[in-house]
Amino acid sequence: MSSKLAVVVGARPQFIKLSPLLEILRGKIDLIIIHTGQHYDFEMSELFFDQLRLPSPHYNLGIGSANNTIQTGRMLIELDGVFAKENPAAVVVIGDTNSTLAGALAAAQRNLPLVHVEAGLRSKDKRLPEQINRVVTDRLSDLLCCPTQSSVRNLEIEGIVEGTYLTGDILYDLVEKIKPAPETAAAIVRKYGLQPERYFYLTTHRAGNVDNVEFLTMLVSGLHRLPADIVFPVHPRTLKNLVESGLYEKLKAIPNVKISQPIGIVESLGLTQLALGVITDSGGLQREAAYFGKITWLLRDETEWIELADCGAVICGGTKLPPEDFDWRRRFSPGADYFRCAAPSIAALILQKLV
Ligand code: UD1
Repeated sequence: MSSKLAVVVGARPQFIKLSPLLEILRGKIDLIIIHTGQHYDFEMSELFFDQLRLPSPHYNLGIGSANNTIQTGRMLIELDGVFAKENPAAVVVIGDTNSTLAGALAAAQRNLPLVHVEAGLRSKDKRLPEQINRVVTDRLSDLLCCPTQSSVRNLEIEGIVEGTYLTGDILYDLVEKIKPAPETAAAIVRKYGLQPERYFYLTTHRAGNVDNVEFLTMLVSGLHRLPADIVFPVHPRTLKNLVESGLYEKLKAIPNVKISQPIGIVESLGLTQLALGVITDSGGLQREAAYFGKITWLLRDETEWIELADCGAVICGGTKLPPEDFDWRRRFSPGADYFRCAAPSIAALILQKLV
């Protein structure tokens, strides 16, 4: 039997989540890292491999950008070739991107055992590409590593019980592993011309938001009302839409907004750690913020991280910015067993059950 474990990644959040898992699996099994090329700019890909000291991928499929179907289709063709050549004992996919779905489908079609890290998360909106990717990936998976109790329950409701394990959130491992020391975080904050606890950390990239001119207009016309500085690293999708809609110059002119290129994970954790609060539509940043005790105003109607919404760590603000008098300093607790490292359990399950 093959002793190779293939891991498919392709988008920025997957490089981040790969890091704690690799650290534990390295030396225990022959790892084949396959980068689909979904994200390809230096700031969206290589920067993360550098900062997290990840080994260069064994394969970079160079797929690049396209609509969801075409992008996924191109990945499927290339992944099938790699799986045929390497014949791994199992395939790991992470999260909910098109690279996740393509890895899952290509593995399933070759009858390769499939591991899904971050299984069981659900949105009420089935039109979201991420929701489509999650539902199909979970249905095809043999080992489902769930980050939260609510994700285990979601799978139960869908009749998926076998192979389901509560492992915890691998982003917690990452934060524990690489969170900058307080003085490093303070230096990062100073580098952006900010003062600790006196700024908001803003990111937005979800297609449902940033492909919509009304959302971008709301953002650009409302940011000046927030009662502190705002640091805003701009995702390439968001930048493209801001430029095309003529709103980018207006954004640049807002006095309390400091825009930047997409930033690395070390800078991002530094900015999160010392922010007054986080405003985002990111799935990952809301958890990183919670791990630092910071409140997230989520630019969405719902979150897949139910426990964080229930305890007040995440406020679903839809497409509105927070009110000026919002209390950012409230304390919250999602429960004692919420903060736990996931990578050791995930690695143990893979090694015991699949390879
Ligand atoms: C993808 C994921 C999303 C995840 C996000 C993290 C899907 C369906 N969406 O969204 O779940 O939260 O990654 O960032 O998989 N672009 C560049 N350079 C790059 C990458 C993208 O310029 O390196 C631009 C291109 O114009 C591209 C657009 O960004 O068309 C969107 O990229 P894409 O990978 O399709 O989706 P994301 O919005 O990044």
